[in-house]
Amino acid sequence: MKKILFVCLGNICRSPAAEGVFIHYLKSQNLEKSYEVDSAGTSGFHEGHWPDERMIAEAKKRGITLPSRSRPLTKKDFTDFDHIICMDKSNLKNAQKINGGESSKLSLMTDYFKASDYQKSFDEIPDPYYGTLKDFNLVLDLVTDASVGLLEKLQNERE
Ligand code: 4NP
Repeated sequence: MKKILFVCLGNICRSPAAEGVFIHYLKSQNLEKSYEVDSAGTSGFHEGHWPDERMIAEAKKRGITLPSRSRPLTKKDFTDFDHIICMDKSNLKNAQKINGGESSKLSLMTDYFKASDYQKSFDEIPDPYYGTLKDFNLVLDLVTDASVGLLEKLQNERE
């Protein structure tokens, strides 16, 4: 059982979307029993909150549910999880601060893109919080593509 943690700032938009999309993809591949998936925020601003209602609604249109409430990233997560995948570079920096240093468990979601136009155009998953529904759907599109590359990497890793 590998443990995967998605991280953004508030843990109400991007990382819950990545969590829901990745779980949905694992189910489609009959691999949901091989992975434990969670998400967290580098800030505790929204601790205990369900994901942003705009993200819940746009994900639902794709048949995807977002299962967890916001919680802050902790140092203990660096022991508990095998991979900690950040949505942007600022999240990555803040996660390193929370850990008290660099960690080989950390990466960016954009590292896993399959689509070459995404590889060329995005080095972060853009924060949709002050944006429109188009921005929320872009996040869903980006994390859907990256989920494919991420699972490929995880399945090819040695235990
Ligand atoms: P997230 O988006 O990091 O993708 O969950 C945000 C949610 C809330 C805020 C910023 C970003 N905020 O400033 O409250």
